[in-house]
Amino acid sequence: MDYLVLVNKDNLLSRDYVPKGLVEIDEPSGEKVDPNYVNKLDELVYKEFKVMQKAALLEGYEIFVDSSYRSYDYQQRVFDSLVRDKGLEHASKYCAVPGSSEHQTGFAFDVISRRDGVLIEKANEDDPELLWLRDNSYKYGFILRYPKGKEEITGYNFEPWHFRYVGKEASKEMHDNGIATLEEYVFLKQNKKMK
Ligand code: DAL
Ligand code: ZN
Repeated sequence: MDYLVLVNKDNLLSRDYVPKGLVEIDEPSGEKVDPNYVNKLDELVYKEFKVMQKAALLEGYEIFVDSSYRSYDYQQRVFDSLVRDKGLEHASKYCAVPGSSEHQTGFAFDVISRRDGVLIEKANEDDPELLWLRDNSYKYGFILRYPKGKEEITGYNFEPWHFRYVGKEASKEMHDNGIATLEEYVFLKQNKKMK
């Protein structure tokens, strides 16, 4: 699958879609919905993440992958669990229904930070690690997928923890041209408004 694939409320993956090229990854994190959850990402995406993780560490920021690939059925469990905890309205703004989650691509993940040896369970938008990622992730092929103020376009509230691999060419082009969402970038590309 193309690293620019658009998966959102209007562009769905089938229930049986499982990406090729997933690798199990070793990160000090864990999904809370199932203690047996195993983190997996597309091999190249994880390789690029490790490069970014090292660069962050050199500047004093510790970041890890918290929740990565989710199958269609696992996404259902994540969604149901959030509905139970916070209600349907909240869940619809923060969690994709199965088929519409880019966690199913193996190209997206949520990050968790560690500071003074402690994993930060609840991310805040101004956490220094997340600010570093917002400024620098494009250099490594990643984008912040659900930016603030773009809820109407992405369909989700601001998620300062969710990053998506699109490849370095696209991430740099988006950064350099001030294109904040993948929806806008893909539209511009498809309509040949960009090279
Ligand atoms: N939190 C994002 C929208 C997802 O569940 O895929
Ligand atoms: Zn996410």
